[in-house]
Amino acid sequence: MEHTSIKQALDNESLTGTTVTVAGWVRTFRNDRFIALNDGSTIRNLQCVIDQEKVDATTRARFTTSAAVECTGVLVESKGSGQRVEMQVTELKVLGDSDGEKYPIQPKKHSLEFLRENAHLRFRTNTFSAVFRMRHQVSFGIHEYFDQEGYNYFHSPIITASDAEGAGEMFRVSTLDAKGPPLNDAGEVDWKEDFFGAESRLTVSGQLQAELGALALGKVYTFGPTFRAENSNTTRHLAEFWMIEPEAAFMDLKGDMDLAEGLCKHLIARVLKNSMDDLQFLDGRLKEEEATKPQAQRSEMGLIERLKFVLEDPFERITYDDAINILLRSKPYQKKQFQFPVEWGIDLQSEHERYLVEKHFKKPVIVTGYPAQIKAFYMRTNAPGDFGYSEKGKTVAAMDVLFPGIGEIIGGSQREERLDVLEARMKDMNVPAEELDWYLDTRRFGTVPHAGFGLGLERFVLFVTGMGNIRDVIPFPRFPGGAEF
Ligand code: 4AD
Ligand code: MG
Repeated sequence: MEHTSIKQALDNESLTGTTVTVAGWVRTFRNDRFIALNDGSTIRNLQCVIDQEKVDATTRARFTTSAAVECTGVLVESKGSGQRVEMQVTELKVLGDSDGEKYPIQPKKHSLEFLRENAHLRFRTNTFSAVFRMRHQVSFGIHEYFDQEGYNYFHSPIITASDAEGAGEMFRVSTLDAKGPPLNDAGEVDWKEDFFGAESRLTVSGQLQAELGALALGKVYTFGPTFRAENSNTTRHLAEFWMIEPEAAFMDLKGDMDLAEGLCKHLIARVLKNSMDDLQFLDGRLKEEEATKPQAQRSEMGLIERLKFVLEDPFERITYDDAINILLRSKPYQKKQFQFPVEWGIDLQSEHERYLVEKHFKKPVIVTGYPAQIKAFYMRTNAPGDFGYSEKGKTVAAMDVLFPGIGEIIGGSQREERLDVLEARMKDMNVPAEELDWYLDTRRFGTVPHAGFGLGLERFVLFVTGMGNIRDVIPFPRFPGGAEF
């Protein structure tokens, strides 16, 4: 079947006056004459005008919401406002009926909660089709950016027997009988009997493997699903999410920050160029949602305005010391409005991150030089003169990129390339060196300075779509208590 996409039909001026065939799902059917048809290629519908005399009443009764219809006809300049062309239908076929009484999603405003419960059908709504077209644009833009920068797409494994990253709680992968697994002499589950001959889990990050790739190929990035079994029922956490992890040899923390900022801006520029229809719709959706909030909680900027703003301004780069000092001097701290304490050594909480970004700097912020004790073992220890070095305690060359409305969107660091320093740190943090011997080999044979970061795809999609809940920007969200569909 050769179909013209509705996007083509609406945008390609050379098609005006010609006969084309389109197929899609009915959004609405008005006045017994006007079918608003959508095929997912764009948020806009094609108005298909039927001749009542040629289409009998039984057929017309089948143009219910979400019925699949194929229409052939001439594209003519539209008399109505809102669209450039419409179709004068000459031939029409109902491809799939949709029982209007039973179809759960009607042409009215449904709550996002309701649509989450009907997540298998929510793609047919304007909001979700816009979100998932934009998710595609962002994903594609990620490959485009790294390809342009000379990075190789490197596939890190999903199943791993190493649990050393320490980035979060892990899901077990096993084929052992859950009711009566084989036991060893100590009476514990004998993982040697399991499929991989060792206790295995779903990965929380591909970084350690990406480092192996970077120290041979120079520049690599991973882009795949990542799993964390932490029981966080928040609007920012998923149990299964997609992470992008670039890693580059001969790159320091400054280069890492530049790469991260460059990526964010490339992606924003791409959606502003390719997704304007969807952005305009989502901008309107956000404005409506904001209008229901009390004045103090409303954001000052609309979605598109915010994206342009982030694109045009350099990100603020500060040290962890600066961040703590700003927070200690802040109004919410002095009025005891923060829920979590502020003092040197704490991990910044979302409320602190959002104060820095939304209230203090009013733009994305990159914080470097976090206390060593709250960051992973592989981060490089700072010395006097390093950006992020602190008199207050040991810090590492970590960098977190904080975004308005989101908080942490990227976490990364320069890696500890010095074998002796790394081994001492692992010992300090009780990271088992035996399990990571393969990783330590990179520091034994031709070690070089290198750096990388992890971007959470869904957090970025939240930002560019203006959606409020991370479960609404991944097609099939997995969270504590939920793996339906
Ligand atoms: O800060 P994280 O834990 O960093 C790492 O895993 C490093 N290995 C990355 C690296 O240096 N290669 O996670 C990176 C990002 C976070 O900034 C956040 O955007 C996202 O991954 N993220 C999550 N997104 C959704 N749900 C979760 N449970 C997430 N946990 C982290
Ligand atoms: Mg982090």
